[in-house]
Amino acid sequence: MSQAGKQKILVTGGTGFTGSHLVKRLLGQGHEVLVVDNQPGYFYEELKALGANITIGSVTDRELMFHLVEGCDVIQHLAAAFRRIDLPKEVYWDVNVNGTRYLLEAAEKHGVKKFVYSSTCGVHGDVDNPPAPETAPITPADYYQFTKYKGEEVAQEFIERGLHVAILRPAAIYGPGDPERWLMLFKRVAPGRFLMFGNGRATYHPLYIDNLVDALILAAEKEESKGQTYLIADEKYYELNDLVEVIADVLNVDVSVIHLPFWPLWLAAVGCEAVCKPFNISPPLFRRRVDWFRQNRAFDISKAKRELGYQPKVDLKTGLSETAVWYRENNYL
Ligand SMILES: NC(=O)c1ccc[n+]([C@@H]2O[C@H](COP(=O)([O-])OP(=O)(O)OC[C@H]3O[C@@H](n4cnc5c(N)ncnc54)[C@H](OP(=O)(O)O)[C@@H]3O)[C@@H](O)[C@H]2O)c1
Repeated sequence: MSQAGKQKILVTGGTGFTGSHLVKRLLGQGHEVLVVDNQPGYFYEELKALGANITIGSVTDRELMFHLVEGCDVIQHLAAAFRRIDLPKEVYWDVNVNGTRYLLEAAEKHGVKKFVYSSTCGVHGDVDNPPAPETAPITPADYYQFTKYKGEEVAQEFIERGLHVAILRPAAIYGPGDPERWLMLFKRVAPGRFLMFGNGRATYHPLYIDNLVDALILAAEKEESKGQTYLIADEKYYELNDLVEVIADVLNVDVSVIHLPFWPLWLAAVGCEAVCKPFNISPPLFRRRVDWFRQNRAFDISKAKRELGYQPKVDLKTGLSETAVWYRENNYL
């Protein structure tokens, strides 16, 4: 139980990847947890059985948000239009900007004590001088990241009006329960031959899910977080070549990394997006995905350590091993 005792906490996006882990931890700490998400997700039954009060609904439903927020002490706002690349721009705006505004309005009206908004490290785009601190230039690389930053600007309005809001910018989250981006990496390393587009020297900053949950909870507990923005990541960042080696080590395979030129892949992604758009098909290749090979994503987490007492406890090898176990147990690998 936290220092503040038992609290009523609303987790938006609470049946998603991060949300499920956070909800389980909060229930384990004895809190009353409300969840709102637009879909039941992988862990729905488990979360319900543990005592989560789950509403299937959208953060874009203003009335519903005002209803759910009433009586809450804390809001952990994780819901986002994020994983799907084929959504119209209006959906990203509606969910990531308007939805954030409705929750903040409801928090202000109902006297919520702490509001934690999960933004993204992606608001910094391709980092010029890694590792980037929170004050690094804001250069979102795509519309999703742009709307997450617009959500931050909405949060700033409420901070100026006195609401206790903390903004977290998580790095690349991984761990048991995420059947997407990192699974793709595992699957591409597993055969022992990894195609690396470009020189593989771009930096990447992982964030193990349990480390992120620690940070979310600290941000909701500490008075110091009021009005502050924090980059959250694991202790170390990696060059892509090294990251592939660690994954190979965890999978117990010898991997050879084959380097291919980056720009033909990027042009193929542009073409793929252009061809798929008129037919409303999700493109198999798109710029956000291929930019993984090129963009520097490495962050300075010293502010979160200093002010929140954040200390990433799980290192990459341990986290990846836990993740591989989950993938195997659930027949993804
Ligand atoms: N994963 C990363 O590497 C990463 C890095 C930096 C920041 N973040 C941010 O961290 C947060 C959590 O990420 P995650 O990886 O846990 O994402 P996730 O698994 O996609 O979880 C987000 C949840 O929100 C739901 N959602 C989407 N639109 C909604 C709406 N209108 N109303 C209610 N729920 C809605 C999603 O449902 P659908 O699946 O149906 O969309 C999903 O269940 C997000 O805010 C994301 O922007 C993620």
